[in-house]
Amino acid sequence: MVCGHALTIQRVLTPRYLRAYDGLVSSQGFRHRHLVGISALAPEEITQILDLGDHYLELDAQPVKKLAELRGRTIINLFFESSTRTRTSFEIAAKRLGADAVNITGSASSTAKGETLIDTVRNVEAMRPDAIVVRHAFGGAAAMIAPHVGGAIINAGDGQHEHPTQALLDAATIRRHKGLKTAGSPRGGSIAGLEVAIVGDLAHSRVARSNILCLSKLGANVRACAPWTLVPRGLEDIGGEVTRAHTRITPHLDEALEGADVVMMLRVQNERTAGEAPRFPNAREFSRMYGLSVRTLERAKPDAIVMHPGPINRGVELAPEVADGARSVILEQVSWGVAIRMAVLRAWIMKSFEVP
Ligand code: MLT
Repeated sequence: MVCGHALTIQRVLTPRYLRAYDGLVSSQGFRHRHLVGISALAPEEITQILDLGDHYLELDAQPVKKLAELRGRTIINLFFESSTRTRTSFEIAAKRLGADAVNITGSASSTAKGETLIDTVRNVEAMRPDAIVVRHAFGGAAAMIAPHVGGAIINAGDGQHEHPTQALLDAATIRRHKGLKTAGSPRGGSIAGLEVAIVGDLAHSRVARSNILCLSKLGANVRACAPWTLVPRGLEDIGGEVTRAHTRITPHLDEALEGADVVMMLRVQNERTAGEAPRFPNAREFSRMYGLSVRTLERAKPDAIVMHPGPINRGVELAPEVADGARSVILEQVSWGVAIRMAVLRAWIMKSFEVP
């Protein structure tokens, strides 16, 4: 049991956090001012974002990828934590939609001189951006700044809380490979009933939380796997009934992988455990018990796909032969990152999930 992390989950789910969503229903029925977490999205809304992402992914095949849908709009990427994929893909997404994108990093911002986060945001807001994409080490940062802006806050990862666009791009990738198309199923097929193993550092992973919420809402079943020292108390309860019904926690890798359709591996987030007692003896031991290798992958379905949000610790949670193997869709996730972030930016700025 890891009480500190259980507290973190509870603290960010206060009524103040929920109030960030109040007060907006557009003529198209769009009811969100901000995207703080998957927790606020209805399953139909998630499906609409995936459909919009499908539409934008088609641009990848075009020599000219630029549209004018957000021409004249300003998007500020405010990143207080390091990032390669997320920041770059938000920037490319904004530019492909014709918006002006400005990047501010923590070390280059005035918070490095002692300014508070709220003051930084109020100053950025004074330049009237249409959306601020924010990443911060504090779980709850996106919800905290949301009341201080006129445009949309898009959470690009806040501490150990949520990383909603990662879960959406993961769902898009899963749907493309495993979506079951039947009469009446959503446009890109349904992922309901799929078995998804999420393995690794569950305690510190915002990706795990957002994925558990997103996959459960779409009807997939999650087997969340880690040593008990890396399982936060109440993880299966984060979305109430829906996550309780769709999430099973196991400390046994074999059990998590048996017959899985999708295997999602997570990085051990050493940067979040500095100064804490170790959660496992050493990286080699962790890798032996929880790493995905060619041999351990055999337990999953023969056509199971392998995912990872990156960055990968090669040889720790994932063997290089698996990371680069035929079943890996890791780089495809990165391509979906641009398409899904285009979908999110367009939807939250234009207040519509409609495919243009
Ligand atoms: C994140 O920002 O949470 C990443 O995408 C996953 C990681 O850092 O391990």
